[in-house]
Amino acid sequence: MSNEENISVALFGFGCVGQGLYDVLNHSEVLQANIEKICVKDASKKRSVDMSLITYSKDDILDRKDLDVVVEMINDTDEAFAIVKKAMENKIAVVSASKKMLATYFEELYKLQEENNVALIYEASAGGSIPIIRTLEEYYDNELLSSLRGILNGTTNYILTRMELESKDYSEILADAQSIGFAEIDPWLDVAGFDTMYKLCLLSVHAFGVILKPEQILALGIQNVTFNDIRYAREKGLRIKLVASAAKAGDKFRVYVMPRFVKSDDELYKVVYEYNGVEVEGAFSCTQVFTGKGAGSHPTGSAVLSDISALTYNYRYSYKKLKKLKRILGAKYNGADLLDTEFTIRVYIRYDEQKDMDGIEIKNVVEEYRSPGMNFIIADVGFNSLYKFKGNKESKVFICEVE
Ligand code: HSE
Repeated sequence: MSNEENISVALFGFGCVGQGLYDVLNHSEVLQANIEKICVKDASKKRSVDMSLITYSKDDILDRKDLDVVVEMINDTDEAFAIVKKAMENKIAVVSASKKMLATYFEELYKLQEENNVALIYEASAGGSIPIIRTLEEYYDNELLSSLRGILNGTTNYILTRMELESKDYSEILADAQSIGFAEIDPWLDVAGFDTMYKLCLLSVHAFGVILKPEQILALGIQNVTFNDIRYAREKGLRIKLVASAAKAGDKFRVYVMPRFVKSDDELYKVVYEYNGVEVEGAFSCTQVFTGKGAGSHPTGSAVLSDISALTYNYRYSYKKLKKLKRILGAKYNGADLLDTEFTIRVYIRYDEQKDMDGIEIKNVVEEYRSPGMNFIIADVGFNSLYKFKGNKESKVFICEVE
């Protein structure tokens, strides 16, 4: 592929991100990309593009010999994987924005890249418009990173910000986030921390070379947050943020997603509404912070556009950190073995009844508060014992990390 020529692109999916890409592509003065076809599922939906571009058959695209790039932006994880796999087997470079699919099938996708010598890039899948994956991959390729922390989900940050600053109701704000196009089709993925978890899986590969399966990562969300929690934080000059963390701990890594009280001098404190922010700590570069819009049609579309543009100069991820770790550990390389879950963490737990906390290994209570309207404790607890709350739809407990 050469950046002198027009490149031929086909899209899978024409939802929020697809339409955003279409708009930003039409405004790009540099990149000459021709959208040859757009494959969509729902024939009954009216489309805002020339209908001759639309197809309902994936093979109309995947069997073509004249395509340079397939851009995959669909919601169905298994179908997205099947499309990406076939495109790569046919030696077509792929740009994907499907964080769940990428995190779920990462091992297979890594192999497909190696076996077929073809690019798969996915900047839009984490951090929205922030070029964080390429930054971790290229800028920090030789730097020893010690930690990465970030707000990676626009919807939850938008909910938390508006609850705090506008005293609006959680469900009303979530409905707004859905109508603006920030939220996933299934917004449980956003609020329960799963979307952040998928993104963290991808960033862990590029920051540290650690491949984790989504089910191995503890993810707690904001689905149970109330005004009482927001008020408690505000009174202490804190804000609640849903934070993804990955930090080196000896030879292992502590990787998890959890709400966290952040102080006003924390860079993540200032990241509000649908913005995302990532703080990277390096041995030599020290702390660096990246912020930008984390959700929405145009910001995400612009990240996809940047990937398409990168393919014109034959860009591929080199996975240097992953390759290095695999070289060092050889056949023993196993992401799960690199994960440290045996540590103590200080958390705020707001609960209704004492039994709601059953199973949590409480090691040391720092503060306890009970009143007819609100009960909470702040305690040091066994990290492992919090996994039972991951994706737990029945629990009404709100757990938030305390510094
Ligand atoms: N639902 C996602 C979010 C979209 O709110 O961040 C962008 O990945």
